[in-house]
Amino acid sequence: MPNHMFSAACSNSPSSSTNLLWSFLWIPLLISLSIELPYVNAQSSIIMLPTEPDSEAAFPSSPRCLAPDANLNFRPVIGILSHPGDGASGRLKNGTGVSYIAASYVKFVESAGARVVPLVYTDHPGVLLRVWVKDQNFLGLNICCKQNIWLTALSDSSSGRKLDLVNGVLFTGGSAKSGLYFDVVGLIFKKVLEKNDAGQFFPCYAICLGFELLAMVVSKDNNILERFNASYMASTLQFVEGTSIEGTVFERFPPDLLRKLNTECLVMQNHKYGISPGTLRGNQRLSCFFNILTTSADEDDKVYVSTAQAHHYPITAFQWHPEKNAFEWGYSMIPHSEDAVQVTQNVANFFIRKKTG
Ligand SMILES: *[C@@H]1O[C@H](CO)[C@@H](O)[C@H](O)[C@H]1NC(C)=O
Ligand SMILES: *[C@@H]1O[C@H](CO)[C@@H](O)[C@H](O)[C@H]1NC(C)=O
Repeated sequence: MPNHMFSAACSNSPSSSTNLLWSFLWIPLLISLSIELPYVNAQSSIIMLPTEPDSEAAFPSSPRCLAPDANLNFRPVIGILSHPGDGASGRLKNGTGVSYIAASYVKFVESAGARVVPLVYTDHPGVLLRVWVKDQNFLGLNICCKQNIWLTALSDSSSGRKLDLVNGVLFTGGSAKSGLYFDVVGLIFKKVLEKNDAGQFFPCYAICLGFELLAMVVSKDNNILERFNASYMASTLQFVEGTSIEGTVFERFPPDLLRKLNTECLVMQNHKYGISPGTLRGNQRLSCFFNILTTSADEDDKVYVSTAQAHHYPITAFQWHPEKNAFEWGYSMIPHSEDAVQVTQNVANFFIRKKTG
């Protein structure tokens, strides 16, 4: 039956005797038609297709929302430690007190529902802090401070206080392996352990340089790192045989995505240093602290630890860059497929997870 016949019958045409007559004539016909075509909505004068709901009865009633889970932290805040320099090889600023946080780390944390507080590595109570955003890839932090004042303030106050305002910490990638920055990483790491030892759930992600620094701090050996040839390359993650992913960053990955991590280059590597599985296992301090979850191979097929998790702390160390897949476009080899973006999201979600015991 052509549609125009129904619209003629149902339209509110100006009343005239002819129209009125036609309306009455159409009634028996409409009744018979409506048996075959039940979706004539008399009230709104809209013809519904058989697949469309015709009344409110077709919509399921919404369940009542329960009260929020009182055990959830609804205002998670993550501290990200700034790294020395302007993040652009001096193109923006060369001052000695300058440090930065790449925006991808901030977006990574925010994508999982948390907020970010910069832990400026030169922070001290008298610091004058000015934030500027130079381009979308760098959130630069320009700090004017006198380093000598800072060192005396370090041990007791500022970083300790700021750390008490956050629910977890992230150490970023970068290159600084010595000096003030290295000392601050060690100090914050010690506080992370203390907080967890005291019963507070205080997760820590250490990414790329972050992993390397924790390896140095935990082993108490500043020469523990080895050279690798893994600059600007995507890689797979090989899960260590017999290692359970339960309680690790991979525990809630969809099984399909987990399998793909083994065979497809879904993670971005960019490092010249690292630690081999043999070295980690051979070092008593490191093997007591870290469990190796995955390994990867560099350009020369030299194998390094790509993901490690602390045995007794919510601390995960990544030699790769979970934050880049979704939030950095600087290099063509950064994986940006749907699967790669899912990797970023799953890793972020685990960081900002509900503590389950
Ligand atoms: C920082 O130093 C480098 C090397 O000396 C120089 O090429 C660059 O122009 C400097 N950047 C600024 C913003 O002054
Ligand atoms: C790194 O690997 C590339 C590609 O295999 C090779 O050309 C280069 O010489 C290697 N660099 C070092 C430092 O081994």
